[in-house]
Amino acid sequence: MPTTQLRQQPISVTRQMAAALPKLAAIAKAKGLELHHLGAGYPHPEVTNPMGYIAHKEAYFKHLAGEQSLQKILQPLYGYTDTLGPASTREMFAKVYGHDFNTTLNPELLIPTIGSSGGISQMCSLFERTGEKVAYITDAPTYAGFISRASLYQKARIYSVEMDLEGPCCEALAAQISRARADGYTVAFYYTVPDGHNPGGISFSEQRRRDVIKVLKAHDTLLVEDAPYSYISFESAARRPKPFFALAPEQTVHLFTASKIGLPGPRIGFMYTEANIELANKATVSLNQLLLTEASANILLHNPEALKGFEAFLTDDDFSARKSLWPIANEKNNVYRENRQILLDTFEQEFNQHKDIFQWTQPGAGFFSVFTINHPSVVCDSDLTDKLVAEYGVVTIPTFSFYPEDARARDKSAGLNQLRLSFCYSEGIGERRKQQLQAATLAFAKAIKQECGV
Ligand SMILES: Cc1ncc(COP(=O)(O)O)c(C=O)c1O
Repeated sequence: MPTTQLRQQPISVTRQMAAALPKLAAIAKAKGLELHHLGAGYPHPEVTNPMGYIAHKEAYFKHLAGEQSLQKILQPLYGYTDTLGPASTREMFAKVYGHDFNTTLNPELLIPTIGSSGGISQMCSLFERTGEKVAYITDAPTYAGFISRASLYQKARIYSVEMDLEGPCCEALAAQISRARADGYTVAFYYTVPDGHNPGGISFSEQRRRDVIKVLKAHDTLLVEDAPYSYISFESAARRPKPFFALAPEQTVHLFTASKIGLPGPRIGFMYTEANIELANKATVSLNQLLLTEASANILLHNPEALKGFEAFLTDDDFSARKSLWPIANEKNNVYRENRQILLDTFEQEFNQHKDIFQWTQPGAGFFSVFTINHPSVVCDSDLTDKLVAEYGVVTIPTFSFYPEDARARDKSAGLNQLRLSFCYSEGIGERRKQQLQAATLAFAKAIKQECGV
């Protein structure tokens, strides 16, 4: 048998839940219970139609060809192209994204990624190349996909920072960077999801963003801004906080993904940074150049159909470049906003008398609200979430699983009084969608009240 130095990686609770779900769902079904989805963080099928996306892409290709043959247009695109992908896609994206977030992007600095997961992976890879001990600073709780990716490197360690409703605690952020360095680690970056935090169910306030930047600048630390929900915003344009890359492009690596504003399947994303970093030999280089070298060694080039398909998505029915993607986002957000309101209104109605025991976040963006249960007889572990499926037909995700190991070591009960509830997904559309979400929220409320005996 081949022998290696590899170690077994832990399986995330979301994967464990997905694996256990069919059996639990069958138990619920046998009891005649409807299955209620408050677990999955998937884009809603009502507003993610691949047929329209594909048809527009094909029409756009024909439009590009004009009088020429389609082959003439596609031949160079489908050959060995640059790692950066077509300039036209980056130029169009830079314009529209800069417009939508009140900033300016240099299209030459946009590197295509495989969704934002690809951006996370590329950032981790870059620091793993050193072979040194690498520390990642992140929130407690944080995105499970980030924990999984960061933990692939056996010399990586996560230093986490608790959050309140406005974002991470800045004193703790500074202290964790210093601690990691004192422990002999190279601090790679602070990773966060400031808008529609998954799984925190909050968006950072503008003031906290500025405070975070101050700390990171003072400690020469990069920020990785994962932004899948930047367009899934429930705030008015005037109240929407600025993303980090607009506030401090020289400190930030911004990860855009088309998974929520478009579709997850085509795996479109871009990473963007204007940061310079100092190398081991004290030379200063642009981080973009290092990331581009990494990308060209890793993937060489992207799927041209996916990138040009995304370019088509950036054009309107006449194939002229869209000025803004907010009209597209707003169509989607009408659905997510309605869902969010059903969830929040139902909680207000069902838990109004018991706000000492039950609290929930009011997400300014994204797909999730975090529900807190402060009751001595209820522990929000996997046993509880399994029971909620098997006995009440309600699928939820326990929040403890999103706490990095160090956060659980600091506080054994971290997250064990919380559940992450998603309001983004159901099987039905239109009125049926609303009925299903209402039924799911009511079933959840009934189950929790029963479990707490209130
Ligand atoms: C915070 C966060 N990052 C990354 C992802 C994965 O996104 P992508 O499809 O762009 O890889 C998700 C998906 O839900 C997410 O919530």
